Amino acid sequence: MRQNLVAGNWKMNLDYQAGLALVSEITNMVADEATGPQAPQVVICPPFPFLAGVGKLLPAGGRFHLGAQNCHQQESGPYTGEVSARMLQSVGCEYVILGHSERRQYFREDDALLSQKVKAALAAGLQPIFCVGESLDTREADETFDFIGGQLENGLFHLSNEEFDRVVIAYEPIWAIGTGRTATSQQAQDVHAFIRERLARAYDAQAALNTTILYGGSANAQNARELFAQPDVDGGLIGGASLKSRDFTEIIKSFS
Ligand code: PGA
Repeated sequence: MRQNLVAGNWKMNLDYQAGLALVSEITNMVADEATGPQAPQVVICPPFPFLAGVGKLLPAGGRFHLGAQNCHQQESGPYTGEVSARMLQSVGCEYVILGHSERRQYFREDDALLSQKVKAALAAGLQPIFCVGESLDTREADETFDFIGGQLENGLFHLSNEEFDRVVIAYEPIWAIGTGRTATSQQAQDVHAFIRERLARAYDAQAALNTTILYGGSANAQNARELFAQPDVDGGLIGGASLKSRDFTEIIKSFS
């Protein structure tokens, strides 16, 4: 179901103690302030070793949810160093980020592999937050829509309607991630509207309307309100600003 949502992607930052301190600050600040019909769901995505501990600090049954940053495509087996979707589910995860551009770039994850990871995540009862986004070269060559259309088609469109129902999409232009260079709200809106159109063609109009689509890439406490005010932007996938309790809380409050 489409909903306002803010996810914090901690990436490979902090240590366990600092992570617990951060999540306590966030839950305390948000408990007091961010209520109302537009108040978003909040997903905290710490590194694997922090998951169980962070999960214990999230108020149960409320708007906070636990998410991971990756999972393996197999259910179990001889894959030293890897973590399965079912393991994540067993420590309380409800979401998993898949297809982040850093994983695509540094770990060579391609659409074919990601399509398997999405399947594995859904089979374990997790909701994938599936990332798409173009490089600066692709944007300057005016190929953004084709490129993102391809990522959606190859990574997601093998899913049935029922499966697709549980997918969240994050549009993250690579040139905006960690660079301080945010997409304008119009650039974000244009791509989000395009994504919804592609979903309507691949599934149906209702599925397109029901999909939560997040923006990510240098979103912060200053620009979140304008981004989230766009008709097809349902929230954000936040990197750097999710590591500061005050900034992240401000972003959570940026829905009107
Ligand atoms: P950023 O990262 O907010 O630091 O740009 C976003 C992301 O990579 O998910």
